[in-house]
Amino acid sequence: MKGCRAQEMRAALHTAFEAEIRDQMRALTAIVNKAPDARTFLDDVVAGLSQTPKRLPSKYFYDERGSRLFDEICTLEEYYLTRTELTIMQQFAEEIAEALGQGNMLVEYGSGSSLKTRILLDRLQCTVAYVPVDISGEHLEQTAGRLAKAYPHIEILPVCADFTTEFELPRSKCTPSQNLAYFPGSTIGNFKPKDARRLLQRIASVCGSGGGLLIGIDLQKAIQTIEAAYNDRNGVTMAFNRNLLHRINRELDADFRVDAFEHRAIYNEELGRVETYLISDRHQTVTVDGATFRFEVGEAICTEYSHKYTIDGFHAIAATAGFSLERAWSDDQELFAVLHFRLPAIRLNTHKQIDGSTRED
Ligand SMILES: C[S@@+](CC[C@H](N)C(=O)[O-])C[C@H]1O[C@@H](n2cnc3c(N)ncnc32)[C@H](O)[C@@H]1O
Repeated sequence: MKGCRAQEMRAALHTAFEAEIRDQMRALTAIVNKAPDARTFLDDVVAGLSQTPKRLPSKYFYDERGSRLFDEICTLEEYYLTRTELTIMQQFAEEIAEALGQGNMLVEYGSGSSLKTRILLDRLQCTVAYVPVDISGEHLEQTAGRLAKAYPHIEILPVCADFTTEFELPRSKCTPSQNLAYFPGSTIGNFKPKDARRLLQRIASVCGSGGGLLIGIDLQKAIQTIEAAYNDRNGVTMAFNRNLLHRINRELDADFRVDAFEHRAIYNEELGRVETYLISDRHQTVTVDGATFRFEVGEAICTEYSHKYTIDGFHAIAATAGFSLERAWSDDQELFAVLHFRLPAIRLNTHKQIDGSTRED
């Protein structure tokens, strides 16, 4: 009898769960898919492994498992970044919302699980639409579905794309008063300063005249604190790093012996960045779609950079893309900072000239 009831309950729960997913999907506007295809992924991997030293682009960490592992990293004691950024966002939520203004189209770069975004969506007045942009399609779809249900009054327009490439911004039903880019999580730290400049210029062109940028940056601090965050004792970061090799094996017909590559993250003081590596523990040959790559004992593949900034240092980079700093919020220990930038508003004034023609300023 007991077994039967348990079965019935499981069936009822399953039906309720399916109904909830259906509800979420109905609430969701279609994802625009501009993510890199298998050919681009293969070309990037082959190009990276052909370099000396070998490299793999960190954006490929994020398949469905990679996104889930990243969420797990965010909960680790050593990983102070997420916890601290969330605290800043919660502590200064009202001030931040006021500074960002009303009627925004909110475009988030590398939205992941959009956890911190909810703080903004809860407070920003008259948000016209929320556009989460992420390379990790399935994760984005699930997150956008949940948001569409939680915020039925806000248009949720997810875009699955590589934000380092050109992608079209979806049109919202209402006209926003300005575009506001949100770029949390210290994801900008994954780019070398010259690439960060280029990406910020791209973001500036999406923001447009008078647009804003709210960005989370990780600040320079004691090396031990930084290195511990990227070498956690439970091995979650190792699993996240190695997942890249699992993904390459599965999607690109490769034969990495994943456990023959050790995870290591070290802080490069001179360049102010964490460098994350997968280090071969033996002489070995790896094949990727027919191309072979030799590894010496101790040879490393660099899989990620995570640059640490000062507020002034980052401001100097953002200024080259036209952004001026409006406000900066930090935590008591100054581990992390949330910065609000704005682009100048360009007014197109049409004046009557003396000769009767018109000119534009
Ligand atoms: C460090 S996580 C941050 C996630 C989230 N914003 C947060 O603050 O917790 C980086 C996110 O950016 C996405 N991402 C990384 N590189 C990307 C790229 N080139 N284009 C689009 N999304 C990218 C990943 O899928 C992931 O969700």
